[in-house]
Amino acid sequence: MLHKMTRGALIVFEGCDRCGKTTQCKKLVDALNRDGGKAEFMRFPERSTAIGQTISGYLEKKSELEDHAVHLLFSANRWELVPKMLRLLNSGTTLIVDRYAYSGVAFTGAKPGFDLQWCKQPDVGLPKPDQVLYLTLSPEEASKRAAFGTERYENTEFQERVAKNFEILKEHDWKIVNAGKSIEDLHGEIKSIVTQTVESSKDKPILKLWS
Ligand code: TMP
Repeated sequence: MLHKMTRGALIVFEGCDRCGKTTQCKKLVDALNRDGGKAEFMRFPERSTAIGQTISGYLEKKSELEDHAVHLLFSANRWELVPKMLRLLNSGTTLIVDRYAYSGVAFTGAKPGFDLQWCKQPDVGLPKPDQVLYLTLSPEEASKRAAFGTERYENTEFQERVAKNFEILKEHDWKIVNAGKSIEDLHGEIKSIVTQTVESSKDKPILKLWS
């Protein structure tokens, strides 16, 4: 008997710096694969492409770019990965993605003179996540963790404006997860949410973001 191929789910992690997003994404991919599923880790910016390398040089403060131009590069970096994302999703692989268009809007929108509506436009039509997990951390918890690195945007004042933008972008179906707990407890909570999403997304079409 022929079985219809079911698709993978598109799971996006967003949240402030140092909330443990990357650690949780990687643990989740390992757990899903161990359980017999197919899952892959992706992150944005994806620094390995030509566009990604330009972005990386900018974040490392090795080069300067005009703010609108770099915003469009971050978006182009997502679009250039869309064919790969769709291929994987349609072949049944769940994608665990560390940052996506919401970071794009929240970060550029934290710069003076930027309107969130303008910021959203280049990402309209990207594959829409089946689930966004938004990791939050209180300022007290955050201050107990390692200090900021030296990349662009890694300072408290900017990050506070980013957090406010995430609050505006947040949609009713986002899962807000308090990241101020142990790695294992947080992992357990996240895994149970994502396991349900993987199941419920199987037969649903992939929708388009913000359209
Ligand atoms: P990373 O630390 O997760 O590699 O992210 C790199 C930085 O780039 C982080 O400060 C967030 C920022 N960023 C944007 O400004 N726009 C975007 O579209 C994305 C994905 C990240």
